[in-house]
Amino acid sequence: MSKRVALITGANRGIGFAAAGALLQLGFEVIVAGRDPVSVEAAAGKLGAVPLTVDVTRAEAVERARAFVEENFGRLEVLINNAGVLLDREARGLEVPLEAVEATFRVNVYGALRMSQAFAPLMVRQGYGRIVNVSSVMGSLAGAGQGYLAYRSSKAALNMVTRVLAAELSGTGVLVNAVHPGWVRTRMGGEAAPLSPEEGARALVWAATLPDDGPTGGFFQGEGEAIPW
Ligand SMILES: NC(=O)c1ccc[n+]([C@@H]2O[C@H](COP(=O)([O-])OP(=O)(O)OC[C@H]3O[C@@H](n4cnc5c(N)ncnc54)[C@H](OP(=O)(O)O)[C@@H]3O)[C@@H](O)[C@H]2O)c1
Repeated sequence: MSKRVALITGANRGIGFAAAGALLQLGFEVIVAGRDPVSVEAAAGKLGAVPLTVDVTRAEAVERARAFVEENFGRLEVLINNAGVLLDREARGLEVPLEAVEATFRVNVYGALRMSQAFAPLMVRQGYGRIVNVSSVMGSLAGAGQGYLAYRSSKAALNMVTRVLAAELSGTGVLVNAVHPGWVRTRMGGEAAPLSPEEGARALVWAATLPDDGPTGGFFQGEGEAIPW
């Protein structure tokens, strides 16, 4: 039997890179996707994965990525929408430039939706798929406080994208879930974060390898611990 294929966006570094390593260890064929070709080639080379340059904010790049996967593999078992940006670290919501809100949504929400729209039909055709949207507790409405308005809103919107796609794909064999990796030591998470990228990647790997009767339309951390919306 040929290997299962997993595509991870933003996998040239951070949590995505660690998830790529973990899925390779589990025997997946892994496509390391990212927007910078040099960094993507280097990361994929280090891991023994397949490099794919795709900026998730660009429709034509995503279409090229879909065509690449279709031609080279003819299938895709796992899509991890991990690419993300945090652009409003310093600003209060009352002052955050709308350009920063828009730029955040372009990657964190529209990017993940565009990738899902491109690849879900392939998964439906094969009757199997796992879409993992890398969200954050910062997007939880239940726990929201001040600041990070762009980032929080984008992850809340990504959670809703997760719910709607999960409902629409119900019964097709495609499970769609949102996960929170924890606070992780990456360029985004910073030096003070308690978790390594490998520890953060566990939630992604859990959702990527769910059994057929696993959950869909949920929001989880770790290995299946539900988070309030
Ligand atoms: N670190 C944490 O504590 C934490 C907590 C909760 C959730 N998360 C989420 O976990 C995910 C990964 O974060 P991380 O901590 O690993 O962050 P990171 O180290 O900053 O990595 C972000 C990745 O996203 C890529 N990316 C950004 N814009 C892109 C675009 N337009 N197209 C394709 N790739 C793009 C980056 O590529 P470049 O190298 O080209 O910039 C990089 O590979 C994010 O969705 C983040 O919101 C992180």
